[in-house]
Amino acid sequence: MKNINKNENSKIVNILGIETSCDDTCAAVVANGNKILSNVVASQHEIHKKYGGVVPELASRRHIEIINIIIKEALEQAKLNFNEISAVAVTNRPGLIGSLLVGVGAAKAISYAKKIPLIAVNHLKAHLFANFIINSELQSDFIGLIVSGGHSSIFTVKKYKNDFIVKQVGWTVDDAAGEAFDKIARFLGLGYPGGPIIDKISKQGDPFAFDLPRPMITSNDLNFSFSGLKTAIIYKIKKDPKILVEKNIPNLAASFQEAIVDVLVTKTIMAAKKFNINKILVSGGVAANSRLREVFIDRAKSENVEVFIPPLSLCLDNAAMVACLGYYDFLNKNFASLDIDVFSRSDI
Ligand code: KG4
Ligand code: ZN
Repeated sequence: MKNINKNENSKIVNILGIETSCDDTCAAVVANGNKILSNVVASQHEIHKKYGGVVPELASRRHIEIINIIIKEALEQAKLNFNEISAVAVTNRPGLIGSLLVGVGAAKAISYAKKIPLIAVNHLKAHLFANFIINSELQSDFIGLIVSGGHSSIFTVKKYKNDFIVKQVGWTVDDAAGEAFDKIARFLGLGYPGGPIIDKISKQGDPFAFDLPRPMITSNDLNFSFSGLKTAIIYKIKKDPKILVEKNIPNLAASFQEAIVDVLVTKTIMAAKKFNINKILVSGGVAANSRLREVFIDRAKSENVEVFIPPLSLCLDNAAMVACLGYYDFLNKNFASLDIDVFSRSDI
């Protein structure tokens, strides 16, 4: 990672990003929206895994314990001090209220003490912007797919100079893709978080061993539904409990993963055709899935669309994406006041 000294070029804008919307305590410094000087993520998976999911109260308590350490670490790795930071950008929506409050409280304190602008960032929009860290020169228009633990949505994204208009055109009518991965992993006794475990175990399985539905794949809209897929597996096993033997777990995992991937890729490409847009931005924790990445790249070739997926570290929750989006808000002087609130739900 390249260190950029502010004195070398006074136009450099260093944004400190802070992200605490769920169970990762994250801080990063990004220069000019596309140079990652540091990107620190402290995962809490060890704390939550024995409960099979995130316990909000434990998450916020852990954020409080380590937020200052993580911010200090991000500055140290960037070889910058607070006086060289142009603004602080923080996720204030959507997310777990207690968790969001910790990051927002820290960002407000820094903004007030250092007299630098505070920027309030939407977590979902930040996921999309992870793509602009890597490809800052990309030209509009785009179809965006965000697939995470809480969301599975399709967007149209239009860029005008430094401004972006993002419109949701498809969403999940029940579970998010990541939530479905986590629930099936729990059902199969594989642990938490389920996505990476299913991804890994599926490599030893046959993705066509079990015939599973592709919910809503032929519906005329761009919406998703994943809870039926989960129920299909559960019923299959209830009908024939012999299926649930150890040697079948990789086949079940791979068949489930293949069904989710098929629906996500098909519907996103359908959106590209519908809006006559040939660039797709994929992001969110589920975008780390190796099979999703593979199928997207394959199908994009045959469908004549370009697909952009960030590296794994920028797909999962991180603060570099928050700092990247914060950079564009900084250019647009889209600053927040010190009394901004946090929100569990929010449109993009
Ligand atoms: O974006 P993210 O880090 O946090 C939220 O904003 O929700 O996404 C977390 C979700 C979890 O449900 C996790 O199981 C899933 O992303 N995930 C994956 C993979 N890595 C993380 N799902 C499938 N395959 C993966 N490799
Ligand atoms: Zn996320």
